[in-house]
Amino acid sequence: MAKTPSSILATQFIILSLLSSFAIILVQGEDQGFVRSLDPKLLGLKKEKLSHFRFYWHDIYSGKNPSAVGVVRAPTNSSTLFGSVSMIDDPLTQGPELSSKLWGRAQGFYASASQQEIGLLMAMNFHFIEGKYNGSTISVLGRNQVFNKVREMPIIGGSGLFRFARGYVEARTHTFTPNTGDAVVEYNVYVLHY
Ligand SMILES: *[C@@H]1O[C@H](CO)[C@@H](O)[C@H](O)[C@H]1NC(C)=O
Ligand SMILES: *[C@@H]1O[C@H](CO)[C@@H](O)[C@H](O)[C@H]1NC(C)=O
Repeated sequence: MAKTPSSILATQFIILSLLSSFAIILVQGEDQGFVRSLDPKLLGLKKEKLSHFRFYWHDIYSGKNPSAVGVVRAPTNSSTLFGSVSMIDDPLTQGPELSSKLWGRAQGFYASASQQEIGLLMAMNFHFIEGKYNGSTISVLGRNQVFNKVREMPIIGGSGLFRFARGYVEARTHTFTPNTGDAVVEYNVYVLHY
């Protein structure tokens, strides 16, 4: 059956209205006044690379200069200290001895977030102070079952040389002193960054 002029018109109308709604989507995607797409090269982002860092994290409650302080006591007599919160500014050193080279500090807090076993919510920034990493940070947010041999926690971002960072850390307790709560923990950090 030959197409009548009116059906051709109808088809043209449909195509035109599809095109114009497509154009509106394009325009909306391009320019809403506050957002634009950007070539990553303009931010100096070239190739994403994977780095592995290893250092020791010193959580010190004892002595005159603690790096960790309990700021909230567990409000119940829960055996997992559910609800307790500690603030930390923990040295990160090259070796397990506190006197070894200082690479930075882990600043943040951890809280007992589990009622069934000892499980901490960790929220901390590794702030580096050495060499080209001086001033750059890596942010870690994760679950830490401190009595497990290996605990994995996500890296959720970073700043400076760690912009757009993602990855994970593995924590292994090196020493723990139950009567003071002091701990030295080995951290292996696997981070993708530019
Ligand atoms: C914890 O508190 C509950 C309720 O107050 C009490 O029944 C229980 O005996 C307490 N447990 C310990 C270990 O103190
Ligand atoms: C790290 O940066 C700070 C602030 O810019 C500066 O004071 C300090 O000397 C730097 N440290 C090293 C080891 O470069």
